[in-house]
Order: sequence, then structure tokens, then C-alpha cells
Amino acid sequence: MLARTRLGLAAARPGLAAPVVLVPTMGALHAGHRAPLRRAREMAGGHGSVVVSVFVNPLQFGPGEDLARYPRTLSEDIALCAQEGAALIFAPAPREMYPREQRVTVSPGPMGETLEGAFRPGFFGGVLTVVLKLFCMVRPDAAVFGEKDAQQLALIAAMAQDLDLGVQVVGVPTVRDSDGLAASSRNSYLSAPERATALRIPQALKAGERAASGGPGAVLRAATSVLAEAERAEPALRPDYLELVDPAGFEPVSPGYVGEALLLVAARVGATRLIDNMRVAIPPRPGD
Ligand code: PAJ
Repeated sequence: MLARTRLGLAAARPGLAAPVVLVPTMGALHAGHRAPLRRAREMAGGHGSVVVSVFVNPLQFGPGEDLARYPRTLSEDIALCAQEGAALIFAPAPREMYPREQRVTVSPGPMGETLEGAFRPGFFGGVLTVVLKLFCMVRPDAAVFGEKDAQQLALIAAMAQDLDLGVQVVGVPTVRDSDGLAASSRNSYLSAPERATALRIPQALKAGERAASGGPGAVLRAATSVLAEAERAEPALRPDYLELVDPAGFEPVSPGYVGEALLLVAARVGATRLIDNMRVAIPPRPGD
């Protein structure tokens, strides 16, 4: 079933059997989106309902970003959602979602100011605002997001907790193409040579992961050297950041850190900006 308006959604909502599990997306669905869709289907069980929202949210795009050229493929998206067992697709037009200027927005707090938040001012405020609106409109029991967007997932989980939304927020591991590149709608912008350069992003993360036994400094050095090589490639990679953070607060870890950390990269190739991350378990080191 497809709802294009909030009235259509409100009409369909009472017919959805519980638990209702929501997967928010911006459409242009690909292999990476199947992971949250499948987890949602599992969580909904034999009786419950999966709802997928498809909405390219203007509030989370900055001036000069790719709002106008972001891929829009609604009929293919509907087919993929049906394949994955979704009961309802909510695909509103921008003025349906934002009938007037949005006066009140969600403030992401300090965890929204680093990394993606530093490079894309207003981005997380836009994400949290639209996700909160979707939660209010759909009233799901749970919602599923990808670890590919790790900082987004952490902020949405924090919002649900801190604002007592009563929605269980669940993350699923990153889906990668066979060459290692994290599946993303923005990969469709890449030419073949740009994609070859972009592959250095997961390679840098892997190199960092392999250096984990040497501690945070070794992880960062290993990943940095792969990125530095890619900066000299043609076309060149232009990294925005490479950071090793604690997964709870997204603060850079100290040199003596032991435990689970998150290695995050954002980089541009040509006109395309890509993000990726990997969990790195930093073991205790002899002599510490
Ligand atoms: P979008 O980029 O369409 O992603 C929708 C969901 O799919 C997000 O939770 C994202 O993390 C997940 N996803 C995308 N690629 C993935 C991959 N390779 N592996 C696993 N999960 C992946 O993220 C957004 O939309 C928007 O910011 C949104 C949350 C919908 C708010 O507008």
C-alpha cells in the first residue's frame, strides 16, 4: 500500500497490525537498504507490519549540497519494499511534510556538533526533526537504521531515549558491495575511476582495524597512510575527517584507550561526498 499524504497515512494506520516497525529512508533504495528492511520484517514477526518512509528531506541538505540531483526512483522503491514484505510505503511530497516553515526543530546537542555535524551544519537538526515527525505520524513500536550512518544512528537512539519517545531504535551492520565500498545512493554519482579512488576509504578502515593491537595511534597511522596515498591518486580523494572515537559519545579516544572504538571517515571524490566507518576493538597492550 502507498500513502502520499498525511491523511492517507492516518487512514491506513489503524489497519496495521502491531508491532509496527518503521524504516525511514530517502528512497533510491539499494542493497544497503535491504538490511534495515529485513531486520524490520524479522522484528515485526509473522503478524506485525513494516512501514517504509521515502522522503528526500530538504531540512537536512545544506546550501550547495545535492538536494536537487539526489536520485528519485519511487516506482522501483515500491517494488523493492514489496519484495521485502513492507505493508505500507509513506512517500509524502515536501509540502505535505512541511506545510509551513518549520518553526520548531530538534537540537542534537554536543554529539551532533562533531564529525558530520561539523562539516554539515544543520544536518543532524534536519535529520532528527524529520525522524521525530515520522515517529509522530507513523507511531511505530520500533524503528531500524543502518550503522553505515553511525553518528546518525547514535543521535536518533539518544533522541528516543532523552525525549522518552517510546520507540525502540535498532541498528543493523553496514552492507558493502563485493569490492568493499559501502552501498550508498550517492555511489551512483561515481564514474569508474572515481569509484576506484573511493575504494581507498574501506581499505583505510580495514588497515586501521588490522593495526588495532598497536593501540589508537597505530590505528590512525595505518588508516592515514592509505588515505594519504589516495590523496595523490587521480582522481584524488579529499578527506574531510578521519577519527577514532568512543561509540557512546563520539569523542576522540585517548592514546591509552582499550575497548570498542569506531573509526570514521568522510571524504570527497569529484563532486561526491562519501562516509564510512568500522568498529575496531582495541585490546589491552603489554606494558600498559
Ligand atoms: P538513507 O540514506 O536513504 O538511508 C536510510 C537508512 O538505510 C539509514 O538508516 C541508513 O543508515 C541505512 N543504510 C543506507 N546504506 C546502508 C548500508 N550500506 N548498509 C546498512 N544500512 C544502510 O539516512 C537517511 O536516509 C536519512 O538521513 C533519514 C534517516 C531517512 C532521515 O531523512
